[in-house]
Amino acid sequence: MFLRAIGYLLFCCISRVFTALPACASGVTCPKGGIWSEWKISGDTYCPTKCGSCSKLFYVRHCLSEDAKCKCTGPTTQYLPCNTVACQFPAQRTCCVPFVTVLVNGTMHCGPFSKEKTEGTEPCCPGAGIWTEWTEHFYKNDARGTYQKTRQCLSAPAGCPCTGAAVQEQIQCPCPRTLKTAESCMQIDTSLNVDYKIRWHRDLIVTDMNCTAIMEMESNDDQMTYGGPKMCKTLGPYIYVPALVLLLSASETQGPSNKCYVDRPFDCEARRRPENFQPVTFTCDLEKLLWKYDYHGWYVEGYNQLSFNSG
Ligand SMILES: *[C@@H]1O[C@H](CO)[C@@H](O)[C@H](O)[C@H]1NC(C)=O
Ligand SMILES: *[C@@H]1O[C@H](CO)[C@@H](O)[C@H](O)[C@H]1NC(C)=O
Repeated sequence: MFLRAIGYLLFCCISRVFTALPACASGVTCPKGGIWSEWKISGDTYCPTKCGSCSKLFYVRHCLSEDAKCKCTGPTTQYLPCNTVACQFPAQRTCCVPFVTVLVNGTMHCGPFSKEKTEGTEPCCPGAGIWTEWTEHFYKNDARGTYQKTRQCLSAPAGCPCTGAAVQEQIQCPCPRTLKTAESCMQIDTSLNVDYKIRWHRDLIVTDMNCTAIMEMESNDDQMTYGGPKMCKTLGPYIYVPALVLLLSASETQGPSNKCYVDRPFDCEARRRPENFQPVTFTCDLEKLLWKYDYHGWYVEGYNQLSFNSG
């Protein structure tokens, strides 16, 4: 009975419908042993002998779940006998060495058929199937102004369909709508050795159509309570205020190693603009989904406008 089952699996159906996997226990996302493709003949599909398991064909399979970080165990190639049906008289022998006749589904075949080693593996189909990661690249469809990401169902060829969408579209620019504050930064501007206070943290104003953002800095800062005109004076010959402290992303390879950088994108004259606010600009990196501070091209995770301590 057992041999029958193995024989059936290996020889009757090997290039036909791949038996669907049983469902995994809930919570299992990567079955033990991974999910393999079915075995497929590689190279020559012609079996040079008509009967008796006298020849072999080369089979390969590949790990379907590998791209989802779910490794497969077991061989990727094997030789399997072809035309396994027992030879009829007047053939010299019924089966080629080392095979002997076995009854499979009422027909004499030449076996036994090697059993695949499956110890330690529990192939099964996780509830949602196995998806690739979403593509990193959103891309913009200019006509509709949409951002798109896609993923692929890896487990489908093993009879384990995926549930959920393969494409996700959105009108919103996919970078975060808000950034952190830079409160974790040391409150001294190392370039000037001057103390500062973390002050304003205005939200980004995102333009979805081109995935850019602005952050309005206080430019009309003439109140003494916030350092006022001293913001220029205390900096001596350094004329650039207002100042911004940027908390760089951990993945940023440029800039200071402590990830805190004080920048002065405007000069003192800009402070006197009739408008109250002075915008700094950011551009979304669609691959990393991080905002780039346009003045340096660095990836930022947070920011605050500063005021310098007077004195
Ligand atoms: C056995 O053979 C019959 C007739 O050829 C076929 O319909 C059936 O699917 C076979 N069953 C198995 C388990 O091979
Ligand atoms: C993005 O769009 C906004 C609003 O239309 C515009 O002000 C800004 O200049 C654009 N930025 C770029 C880089 O095209």
